[in-house]
Amino acid sequence: MKENINVEIKSRKIDFSSCKTDLLAIGLFADAKELDKTTEELNSKLKGAIDQLIKLGDFKGKDETSALIYGNGCIGAKRLLLLGLGEKKKATLDTIRKAAAYAANKAVIIKAQTISIALHRAFGARFDLSAIGRVMTEGAYLGSYRYDEFITENKNGRLDSLIIELIDPDPAKIRMLNKGLCCGAIIGKAQSYTRTMANRPGNVINPVTLAAEAKKIARSSKGLSCTVLDEKQLAAKGMGGVLAVGAGSKTPPRFIILKYTPGSKAAGNLPTVGLVGKAITFDSGGISIKPSDKMSEMKLDKTGGIAVLATIKAAAELKLPFSIYGIIPAAENMPSGTSYRPGDIITTFSGKTVEVQSTDAEGRMILCDALAYAAEQKCDIIIDIATLTGACMVALGRYMAGLMGNDDKLIKQLQGAAEESGEKVWLMPSGDEYAEEMKSKIADLKNTGSKWGGACTGAAFLRQFVGGKKWAHLDIAGVDVLDKTTEYTVEGSSGYGVRLLTTFLINLAGKKN
Ligand code: BES
Ligand code: MN
Ligand code: ZN
Repeated sequence: MKENINVEIKSRKIDFSSCKTDLLAIGLFADAKELDKTTEELNSKLKGAIDQLIKLGDFKGKDETSALIYGNGCIGAKRLLLLGLGEKKKATLDTIRKAAAYAANKAVIIKAQTISIALHRAFGARFDLSAIGRVMTEGAYLGSYRYDEFITENKNGRLDSLIIELIDPDPAKIRMLNKGLCCGAIIGKAQSYTRTMANRPGNVINPVTLAAEAKKIARSSKGLSCTVLDEKQLAAKGMGGVLAVGAGSKTPPRFIILKYTPGSKAAGNLPTVGLVGKAITFDSGGISIKPSDKMSEMKLDKTGGIAVLATIKAAAELKLPFSIYGIIPAAENMPSGTSYRPGDIITTFSGKTVEVQSTDAEGRMILCDALAYAAEQKCDIIIDIATLTGACMVALGRYMAGLMGNDDKLIKQLQGAAEESGEKVWLMPSGDEYAEEMKSKIADLKNTGSKWGGACTGAAFLRQFVGGKKWAHLDIAGVDVLDKTTEYTVEGSSGYGVRLLTTFLINLAGKKN
């Protein structure tokens, strides 16, 4: 895996004022009445510089604000970064994740080689220290991420590597932070990997190169295997949906099947989970071609598939105790003389026939084969993740993914994982009314509904291919991309889904089903 900035993250037992580092990051609440003990110690060594900042009104502890103080030999650190944490009662784990991201982003901007993060101090006993270690680490990866592998000139002058450390003087606390750090580093790396893969353009990542990458990941991860079906095997299996969508491209489609098998036999009767991810390596719309404005964003139409690849890799590294399938149908949706057409009737892997109304509703055409395949593999739980509909983005904006499903418990588990991971979801319907709209007069189904409720009709289509298994669908159109660079992280792929799905799996491993 290519990392754009080589991030090394570790923990260190050291007290805050003597910690030698390029940048020391601590947090302050907006409504704090006085400085806590550690901050007061730094303040007095810095001859009241923190007090001055606050008294002069230059720093109020509001979120998304910071202040930089130079150590000037008074403390071990060359610079002290004060991060605003907002109001104390509103603070969540995501506040810490974002503050760590802010600090790591700043470290890259000022070309620090080492950054030492001591954010947990401000939160006292409010959260479990290992959870704090995990979110600080996830945040550090988010904030230090850059995508500049195709910039030939001097990499913008940025440094190639960054050492991030979580620090505390108490060895018991370090042990707890470190526990979270290990988990957070696996998740953070997986998310950065997703961002890079998704950011790569369609002339670099196509179904064939994506399949080769999945094989490479499987080779280097213990417990992971990978099988790839090529166009001949797809035809033999009757995967008509994937073949139809891939037919217009010079690069043939692929069906990627990853399987994680736990090392020791699963305790109790834990479920087998199937993760299914849409990987359209470029979505031009096909014959139902899209308008050219912003069409380039459609290189990100593979994000769901890549999030599945990264999540199953993370699951293997975390040595989760149950079997997981990662199923990634991959195709490029292009217009040409060999493309599938509006009006075509396609026989899918499940045997159900679909009348094509729009070749631009291609995600469901490849996912229906993948969902039916997951059901055939006897997955007890199937979760698909896909940049499925512009309608979902119209409904929810860029803040949360649409969540649909057929099982209340699974939905609750995903809502819980969303809360914990900071990758938000919003429950939407996908029941009978919507399924009714997907009926065709000349085939079993058609691939578009009416003008309204497009995210729901899309999900209602998918729902009919899961063979009665517990199923949830994440429509990530909108959240797959960050449209502007913020203080926390850079624009481009957000890597959405990796934190959510990994958290869901970790929680599933903790509880018996
Ligand atoms: N990949 C698009 C959905 C999308 C749109 C993702 C904007 C991210 C941003 C999907 O394949 C698509 O084109 N969906 C159609 C479905 C319609 C034809 C039923 C859409 O949303 O218009
Ligand atoms: Mn499309
Ligand atoms: Zn698409």
